[in-house]
Amino acid sequence: MLPYFTEHFGNPASNSHVYGWSAGAAVSGAREILADAIHATPEEIIFTSGATEANNLAIKGVAEAYFQKGRHIITVETEHNAVLDPCEYLRSLGFEVTFLPVQKDGLIAITDLEQAFRPDTILVSVMAANNEIGVLQPLADRKLLLESANPSARKT
Ligand SMILES: Cc1ncc(COP(=O)(O)O)c(C=O)c1O
Repeated sequence: MLPYFTEHFGNPASNSHVYGWSAGAAVSGAREILADAIHATPEEIIFTSGATEANNLAIKGVAEAYFQKGRHIITVETEHNAVLDPCEYLRSLGFEVTFLPVQKDGLIAITDLEQAFRPDTILVSVMAANNEIGVLQPLADRKLLLESANPSARKT
């Protein structure tokens, strides 16, 4: 980042001058590197100021995009407030949110997740690694299980 604080400090969104072009090229390059690292496309990478903004954007964005398909969201009681607060906000707008409990080891029970699923479920938000107790949810295993239990989950 250092050269972009002192030498190439143009607004990357300004494309009418050379300062903007060089900053814009750096942002595009960073976007490609990140996309490559997580097997995404550059268009799928959205830079935010941090996790709170990213979670708000993702959760409220899914709600806005899919509210005609359903208004049910699943998350976990041990989520960070950056996830719980936007879920509470959506609840105040009429969405229904299921807050899954965790077991003694901090993992959610796959049966609880399967039972929470409804035809109007539009989003499941589960943190990969908990910031307080460090537990890692085996997301890849659960994705496979969910897909076999609910083939429509594969499409969205
Ligand atoms: C799991 C988790 N989500 C969200 C946040 C909030 O992050 P930020 O300060 O980038 O908004 C934190 C901060 O520690 C976190 O650990």
